[in-house]
Amino acid sequence: MRETNFIIENNARHLWHPMAHPAEMQAHPPRIVNSGEGVEIVDIQGKKVLDAVGGLWNVNLGYSCEPVKKAIRDQLDELPYYSTFRGTTNSPLIELSYELAEWFKPDGLSRSFFTSGGSDSVETCLRLARQYHKINDQPERTKFVALKKGYHGTHFGGASVNGNQNFRRNYEPLLPGVIHLPAPFTYRNPFNTTDGAEIAQAIATLFEDEIAFQGADTIAALIVEPVLGAGGVIVPHETFLPLMREICDRHGILLIADEVITAFGRTGAWTGSRLWGVKPDMMSTAKAITNGYFPFGAVMISDKVAHVFESNKNSVGNIGHGYTYSGHPVGAAAALATLKETKRLDVAANAAARGEELLAGLKALQNKHELIGDVRGKGLMCALELVSDRAKKSAAAKDVVQKVHDATYDAGVMVRTSGANVIMSPPLIVTAANVQTILTALDAGLSAAGA
Ligand SMILES: Cc1ncc(COP(=O)(O)O)c(C=O)c1O
Repeated sequence: MRETNFIIENNARHLWHPMAHPAEMQAHPPRIVNSGEGVEIVDIQGKKVLDAVGGLWNVNLGYSCEPVKKAIRDQLDELPYYSTFRGTTNSPLIELSYELAEWFKPDGLSRSFFTSGGSDSVETCLRLARQYHKINDQPERTKFVALKKGYHGTHFGGASVNGNQNFRRNYEPLLPGVIHLPAPFTYRNPFNTTDGAEIAQAIATLFEDEIAFQGADTIAALIVEPVLGAGGVIVPHETFLPLMREICDRHGILLIADEVITAFGRTGAWTGSRLWGVKPDMMSTAKAITNGYFPFGAVMISDKVAHVFESNKNSVGNIGHGYTYSGHPVGAAAALATLKETKRLDVAANAAARGEELLAGLKALQNKHELIGDVRGKGLMCALELVSDRAKKSAAAKDVVQKVHDATYDAGVMVRTSGANVIMSPPLIVTAANVQTILTALDAGLSAAGA
């Protein structure tokens, strides 16, 4: 590795960062994170902060998870790569598919299809949904329904179902035949109410109306995050997902749960679908499946969908989809070790308990800081929406949001900002004391920006 000055001088010079303007990154180079330990990260200046972002919603077990590190090292020595395209596979992957079938049994999901990350998993779900209907002699079922404010990665299919224009406008035209419903969002919605149950019912009515307009026999699937993450941590009313499930069932529409963030305990339940008592037809997972230590994902498939593919007798059931790194043996070994640690540490229970403390603390901060328009959260996914005027709900200015971020960092905690939202998704192993550290630093950050 070259010396520190070289690294700092070349920061953002020769690479473009995801989700950033290249010129802005060159003008204000990003923080260089050099190491991580427990729930903390250390930057190139040696400053240590608590990582309330959890990597990117994925380092659920923190940065010192030795069993996962060891599994990766050992697998690199044993078999660092081999393809899983038709004809070959590997042992850790077979074991992982067994463990995942056990893990997701309560969700009714029994088969897995492996990917290199969340966007791949979403793309896989969308493609398999269309294929499912083709096998079922309903080839016209090609459309997708999604939610505004939903985030489903950045591949063309995923961007097409995405519900935030930041990820769409510059890449249009996107996939035709995608319909967006309003988000189940109490703070901002077109229904003129803050009642979550009413909003859920209103969206269900719009969904029915759209199905009647489009023709149910043209719609392949509805894709939703059980708790909307990147769109600003939007927690639907408990009736929302069951209502959507029932409508999908009545019209032969598949339900895809995008659980790239929520699948392994983040909401306080082992899956977001289970949180709301719903069984999806397919589920996209990634991120925490390897604790973020290896790029990997899995699409989980229900018995209903599996039966259609597996009983097919012609080439329509042939899966013409997959990635060089689908079922990577190192990723599979990492996932096996991660699942074991995730279960042993019972992180879902900790996420539920610490999440309540974090949410209560954030609500207390709202009483103190005019800047906070709304506080939302479920388990260890929480957000503050910053406003310049509470009554008008006008978004806080970009430099104010940046100030909150920087001053919170100076006070010892890394948070993530997205638009006017401050998003928190710490590792699921945080302690009650860690939660207080996050709140204290945020208090300092908000005071600095509000002053
Ligand atoms: C719900 C959801 N789906 C899909 C993705 C895309 O995952 P990736 O960035 O690994 O491609 C994300 C990423 O944050 C996500 O939150």
